Formats: sequence, structure tokens, C-alpha cells
Amino acid sequence: MRMILVGPPGAGKGTQASRLVATHKIPHISSGDMLRAAVKEGTELGQEADTFMKAGKLVPDEVVIGMILERVEKDDCKNGFMLDGFPRTRPQAEALDEALEKAGSALDAVVLIEVPDELLVERAVGRRSDPETGKIYHLKHNPPPADIVDRLVHRKDDTEAAVKVRTEKYHSETAPIIPYYKGKGILKTVDGVGEPDEISERITTVLNDA
Ligand code: AP5
Repeated sequence: MRMILVGPPGAGKGTQASRLVATHKIPHISSGDMLRAAVKEGTELGQEADTFMKAGKLVPDEVVIGMILERVEKDDCKNGFMLDGFPRTRPQAEALDEALEKAGSALDAVVLIEVPDELLVERAVGRRSDPETGKIYHLKHNPPPADIVDRLVHRKDDTEAAVKVRTEKYHSETAPIIPYYKGKGILKTVDGVGEPDEISERITTVLNDA
């Protein structure tokens, strides 16, 4: 299955993607994780992306498109993939479609996780990630075990100010891809408010109807 998870910052894309890839046995490709790895390694791409990310702004299309298209062409994506955080603009969506068409394939589903803006800051500010396992926690909603708390990472863009900019960018730059995929008949919308298990069930239901 070739699928995309779309939703505002803190909607739960990463949380749900890690569950879905385990079920569908496809690679989880997170543009945010790839960019953060490039920043950490200090590559040219990472240096270019860093300033945009810290401010909560989108990294320019020409940087992100090349990075993702190169990744989905790899052998482990032959039977499908789960894209999380890409595409985020209409040009990114069109570039992905064009590349898949050239390769003789197409997207199966785009899952939109809807969460009201007023819940997003609290979700992102309380998020902590485990650099050893990649697991995502929340100080209140999904508290980490006490023995790993010291190694957890708080993302630089998980401040209230940056989350507000990210949310604005989501509405202005990313929301326009929703009608684009709706027009192709592959958009599935789920309510992202509730326990993560409930949301996983909702996603499974809409995918089974696909
Ligand atoms: P990215 O890493 O993609 O961030 P994002 O889209 O803002 O999404 P998040 O990772 O913040 O949230 P999520 O939806 O994955 O939620 P999570 O599951 O972690 O991008 C970061 C930056 O990189 C961008 O701002 C941009 O600069 C750049 N970038 C990336 N891709 C790009 C692109 N394509 N083009 C241009 N620039 C790009 O959950 C959040 C928290 O909530 C966690 O603590 C979790 O435990 C908790 N939680 C999850 N589900 C629930 C629930 N149901 N109830 C309560 N809490 C929950």
C-alpha cells in the first residue's frame, strides 16, 4: 500500500504511522525525521533546512522534493510506503504524483487526521521523543517510563510560538492539498480527537473501505 498521512502539527501522524507500518510492513518515511537527521549530521541539506525548521516555517520545495523522491525510489518501497509529513504543498503533491506515474504506480490512500487548532500546542509542547527507540511520548497523555526520562529529546520547534507558526503554515500551504486528493477520490478523513487506539481503529476502518 502506498499511503500518505496528512494533518496539522501534533495531529498524531508520527504516532499513528508507527502503528500502521508495523501492520502493513511498509517503510515509514517521515520528512521531518529525515530533515532532523540531516541537521544533526550537519549536511549541506541540513544546514539549509535548520533555520526554516526552528522558526516553524516550511523548508523550500526544491530541497524536500529531491530528498523524498530519492527515498521512495529505493528497493524497500517497491511494495509500498507510508509518507508522514510529505507532501505539504501543492507542488510537492504534484511532483510525487509525477514520479509515481513515471514508475508505473500510484497512491492508494491519503489519510487526513483532523484535530482542532486549540489542542495542537498542548500536544506538541508536551511531546518527548526517545532517540534510542524513536518512540514518541507525551508528558501527560502518554507518559514515558521513569528510567528513560533523562535521555528524551524535546524538539526545538515544539515551543508555543513555533507551533503557532507551523499551524498557520499548515492552513495556508498544506490544506490546499486536501481538495487535490479529494478530487482524485483517495482522501479518507478521520477524527483525530480521542485515545490513540481509537484513532488507529478509525484509520483501519477507512482503509478497509478503500
Ligand atoms: P514534522 O516533523 O513533519 O512535524 P509536524 O508535521 O509539525 O508534525 P509533528 O511531528 O509535530 O506531529 P505529528 O502529527 O507527527 O504528531 P505526534 O504523533 O508526534 O516537520 C517538522 C518541520 O520539518 C516542519 O515544520 C518543516 O519545517 C519541516 N518539514 C517537514 N516536512 C516538510 C515538507 N514536506 N516540506 C517542507 N518542510 C517540511 O503527536 C504529537 C504529540 O501528541 C505526542 O507527544 C503524542 O504522544 C501526542 N499524541 C498523539 N496522539 C494523541 C492523541 N490521540 N491524544 C493525545 N495526545 C496524542
